[in-house]
Amino acid sequence: MGRLRRNQIELKTIDQVRHMRRADMVVASIHQALRAAAKPGVTTAQLDEVSARVIEKAGAKSNFLGYYGYPATVCISVNDTVVHGIPNDYALREGDLVSFDCGAYIEADGKQWHGDAAFTTIVGGDSAGSEEDRMLSAITEEAMWAAIAATATGSTVGCVGDAVEEVVARRAVENGWEAGIVEEFIGHGIGTKMHMPPDVLNYSVRGRSPKLQPGMVICIEPILTRGSARTRTLSDDWTVKTVDGSKAAHWEHSVAILPEGVCVLSAPDYGAKGLAPYGLIPVRL
Ligand code: MF3
Ligand code: CO
Repeated sequence: MGRLRRNQIELKTIDQVRHMRRADMVVASIHQALRAAAKPGVTTAQLDEVSARVIEKAGAKSNFLGYYGYPATVCISVNDTVVHGIPNDYALREGDLVSFDCGAYIEADGKQWHGDAAFTTIVGGDSAGSEEDRMLSAITEEAMWAAIAATATGSTVGCVGDAVEEVVARRAVENGWEAGIVEEFIGHGIGTKMHMPPDVLNYSVRGRSPKLQPGMVICIEPILTRGSARTRTLSDDWTVKTVDGSKAAHWEHSVAILPEGVCVLSAPDYGAKGLAPYGLIPVRL
């Protein structure tokens, strides 16, 4: 058996995909707990505690905490924060547009198996937010599902970026709604580590991109903004904001490419609802 080379893609057996499903179901329960707890007045640090408790109760471990020194179990990015918002004493306000990026790993067969997924929501419910913010989150979620659907029939990882661009372009024409695609933060392979090859870009790439193969697990995670897609990182070296102050939304799922089709590991229903508009039925484990 050769060693995994740096740019080699880790292909999972079906048992290993089942281990990853367990990690991703922990991530799904973090999402559920955060959705319930993200009320006006609650601080993002309190929400990190909610996440930490869910991970601990599940007997899992945090893959975010300590990752290159990251100080929390979840990234909470409010309004013009694009990604990697560090939980702090900011109290959520009604109408805030907030993305929650969550992860956990479990151990099996002497290895770590990682889960990673994100969602965006409006504090106080959809009706508390602006139409603009609802659209931004909805289009980002649509771009994610279109990209997941594309991997069911596509031949290379590049189909993800093509699908994201296609959704953004169609919404610009049909709804007159312009969104920016953030290019600096991208999806990735996942498995025995949180971030592995291949890179999963959210824009079309000319030229070569890795072949989609059964056994691959990738995180598909478009990030869209309502204005310019240019970002800047604050002096804490984590918090990423839009340069023009426009808001951002981020959706992510961990997706297994299997011989029989795709399986959305971080969706409790395996992606059945999200994929139905594309005429696809996900594989169940
Ligand atoms: N989960 C993020 C991603 O989607 C990475 C978070 S890294 C952390 O790739 F250090 F901020 F936790
Ligand atoms: Co990710």
